Amino acid sequence: MADEEFVVTPYEVKGRIDYARLRELFGTQELGPELLARIHRITGGEVHPLLARGIYYSHRDLGWILDGFTNGRPFFLYSGRGPSGPLHTSHLVPFDLCQWIQRKLGVPMYIQITDDEKFWARSGLSREETARWGLENLYDILALGFDPKRTHVFFDSRSIAALYPLAIRVARKIPYSTVKAVFGFEPSTNIGLVFYTALQTVPCFWPSWAEGREVPCLIPCGIDQDPHFRVTRDIAEGLGYPKPALLHSQMVPGLLGDAVMSTTNAADNALFLTDPPKTVEKKIRQAFTGGRATVEEQRRLGATPEVCSVWALWRTRFAESDAKFDAVTRDCRSGALLCGDCKGQLIERVHRFYAAHAAAREKVKDWAESTIVTEAPKAL
Ligand code: TRP
Repeated sequence: MADEEFVVTPYEVKGRIDYARLRELFGTQELGPELLARIHRITGGEVHPLLARGIYYSHRDLGWILDGFTNGRPFFLYSGRGPSGPLHTSHLVPFDLCQWIQRKLGVPMYIQITDDEKFWARSGLSREETARWGLENLYDILALGFDPKRTHVFFDSRSIAALYPLAIRVARKIPYSTVKAVFGFEPSTNIGLVFYTALQTVPCFWPSWAEGREVPCLIPCGIDQDPHFRVTRDIAEGLGYPKPALLHSQMVPGLLGDAVMSTTNAADNALFLTDPPKTVEKKIRQAFTGGRATVEEQRRLGATPEVCSVWALWRTRFAESDAKFDAVTRDCRSGALLCGDCKGQLIERVHRFYAAHAAAREKVKDWAESTIVTEAPKAL
């Protein structure tokens, strides 16, 4: 991608991302009105805001998943988290959608917590730290409302006995030249990461292995994770498993105006779920907007929601109704809504979510451990 102005891989995201171009580069399909209409029908007349507002914008084989579901061949959901610190709001994008699909369709959910991957990929974190963040992050994820009976967790360092028999077979199918090209590995890259993509592949096939029949897999994830699953899809047939289908989301922009909400450079770029109310307020107050230099100018000319990090938060999670989202967008553009007022409303909304979330998070601690898969279903 040397001549592109942006880079998107699982290990690096930088530059101003041109999402249409990225879809072409990765060779994925556009998530268009026809598929959205089918989701609308299957889920009984609703489409999740993350789909309706175009945050999920690309897919692989979603039509096949929906065909199967309507013909009595249910699928399962799979997504994951690399625990490098506390969750911030953009980390909820895959899990919010998964939780909604699970609730609507009653399908199983598999969550992978990759404490190994983050130890290998982030030199600054100890083994104990990534494992500890893994558990903390898991509480946050489960608190979104996952069904304890239908939710299963692969916590890599603790679930390795369950994953390894399949990982052995997967790893043999992936040549070093593939991972080197796909992830841009250097001679100095540690060999943990070279093996790791095999472990991220295993959950795609695990239910089929456990049940001894083809169980299709749907993965909602950030588009940056697609390279792993291109590798998975290439080897699926050779192992006798169906290729996983994907739903790709755009990355949520950072509060300081970066292309992604990453905290590698600045903690103020993201809203952590652990931020106390005062910190939430400070971060939103100083967030980058699409506003004008003066109030008078903004009243007269309006502002630009598409470049605004505050609007991105309304869009991805905090505008609960379409009516609210449409009003924020329209009033921003027309100049009727000034940035200070918009931020004030958002702060209040985030505080409300954080309070409810903290309560839900305490409750899941009773059963979180019971979701962790520790045994292989059978010898392989
Ligand atoms: N590699 C992901 C990360 O760094 C974690 C992950 C594991 C994942 N399995 C996944 C993400 C499946 C999406 C879908 O965060």
